[in-house]
Amino acid sequence: CGIIGYIGSNESSSVLVSGLKNLEYRGYDSAGVALVNGDVDVHKQEGTIDGLTVPSDPETTHGIGHTRWSTHGEPTDENAHPHTDCSGDVAVVHNGIISNYQELKAELSGHIFESDTDTEVIPHLLEEELARGADLRAAVTRVLDRLEGSFAIAATHADHEGIVVARHDSPLVIGHGDEGMYLGSDVTAFVEYTRQVSYLEDGDIAHLSADGIEIFNDGERVEREIQTVDWDADAAGKAGHDHYMHKEIHEQPHALRQTISGRVDELGGNADLDIDLDDDFLRTLDEIHVVACGTSHYAGLYMKELLESLVDVTVRVDLASEYEVYDGHDASQTLVVAVTQSGETADTLSAIRRAKASGMTSFAVTNTVGSTITREVDDSLFIKAGPEIGVAASKTFVSQVTTLALFTTYLGRLRGTLSAEDGADLVEHIRQLPNAVQSVLDAEPKIQRLAEQYVDSDAFFFIGRGLAYPVALESALKLKEISYVHAEGFAAGELKHGPLALVTENTPVLAFLNDAAAADDTVNNVKEVESRGAPVIGLSTPDETNSFCEHSIDVPELGRLEPLVANVALQLFAYHVADEMGRPIDKPRNLAKSVTVE
Ligand code: G6P
Repeated sequence: CGIIGYIGSNESSSVLVSGLKNLEYRGYDSAGVALVNGDVDVHKQEGTIDGLTVPSDPETTHGIGHTRWSTHGEPTDENAHPHTDCSGDVAVVHNGIISNYQELKAELSGHIFESDTDTEVIPHLLEEELARGADLRAAVTRVLDRLEGSFAIAATHADHEGIVVARHDSPLVIGHGDEGMYLGSDVTAFVEYTRQVSYLEDGDIAHLSADGIEIFNDGERVEREIQTVDWDADAAGKAGHDHYMHKEIHEQPHALRQTISGRVDELGGNADLDIDLDDDFLRTLDEIHVVACGTSHYAGLYMKELLESLVDVTVRVDLASEYEVYDGHDASQTLVVAVTQSGETADTLSAIRRAKASGMTSFAVTNTVGSTITREVDDSLFIKAGPEIGVAASKTFVSQVTTLALFTTYLGRLRGTLSAEDGADLVEHIRQLPNAVQSVLDAEPKIQRLAEQYVDSDAFFFIGRGLAYPVALESALKLKEISYVHAEGFAAGELKHGPLALVTENTPVLAFLNDAAAADDTVNNVKEVESRGAPVIGLSTPDETNSFCEHSIDVPELGRLEPLVANVALQLFAYHVADEMGRPIDKPRNLAKSVTVE
């Protein structure tokens, strides 16, 4: 879900609507705003922001808005935020979960509820506190004491010239503009108006007025540093592409240059990373646990392959929601690494908290400066991919794997187990990545033709070994996310142990035949599916390996990073299949970019 708020000298409705559009990628099954000007005027409904009509009124310069991705309660007009109290004077928007809302609801006898959401208890609780004589900030403070769960809220009142906001385990960013104060669940919400931001900390309750902000924590007045974000407003536009995802796929050479810039030491065969973790600890640690979800999990699996083949360290990669800390290893000698584009994924945050509680040192690899994960871990490394709006990750996956490859180099050289020669090879391949990716992007017309040819298939299978296995999983995820077609990734060797039963002449198989991913063995698996009539699209360097496949997509020679480059071709393949089917590519049904609930 996404939150936007504004109070200042400009008309609030246009600021709120543009903020909601920028935030749509966080969830988009319903949206709404509350405009405050002596009364509270709520406009909300099920559906995308484009369907929401908000009247403009130059006199109304204050309000809050929300775009929702349903958790409690279906996407309906009633369940859309903002929620109000019985009087209609209080309006609240909320991200996260109030885990004790049922008990609180039971205590609110006499209040009439209009939605099935957990959020709606908040305006009713505020109504009770206000009736007892509290002002809005005091009322929010008292109500927060009764809420359990993780959340961020913004509250307004008809007679109150200000917005009260609170952060408890769910992010809130304040924008300091020349024409007022902004509030967002992330910077994207208001980046076109100001790049001066401060991040609220857990437990902060803040009062925003047109002139500024007062922040309190535990009853004490506190200050939060104002920082300048380097994301420019244009970064959030489509720049002539039909979809953000298409733009972001094509931005990859640029994103990779940012990821790599200043971090490659070609002469020393090393990576130059700004890591504050203790060198002695990194030199001697026994185990690395990676926790992540979705695409980030596959980036973690790629790193495991790199680390285990190049560096003497045991790596365990877990889906964050499945991660358990078991006995049997020394927590003081274990590094837990959270891989998370947003830095806000609830499952990943929760896994990191479990690991930290057991005594592990923690590290985050993320795209988002100031995100919750960066506050919780011992140290962070940024992937520097720039903002990604399309729900399905593209450039952030490639930048994540690249950052993790840099980290692999750094660790291997520090531990002395990666030779200068192997380090130099990896670093050289990292350096060549932007151009290699560009050459695959240049083959888009051919990839588009293949997508159009096979768009009516029953299912798509992706097979690869070693480093290509996580890429097979990621490529299948991409296709299923944006096209809704059945797609699965398999370890090529496993095909014959079950999935082969699904293979027919109407199930194209996309095979990674990269040398760094045991291509010779995968060739046998290709023959197995071809003999069942399946069309095969092989991805490899332009040599004889894929000459026997019905189709081939050329990938430049790039050692251990070749499967990563092959992934870019399959991002385009997924994009064009989905586009041919007329799917809403940037906003696939039921999915949100940042899932802030467990
Ligand atoms: C959601 C998104 C996925 C993403 C996953 C993890 O499910 O739809 O694209 O991979 O969250 O997100 P993170 O921000 O932690 O990388």
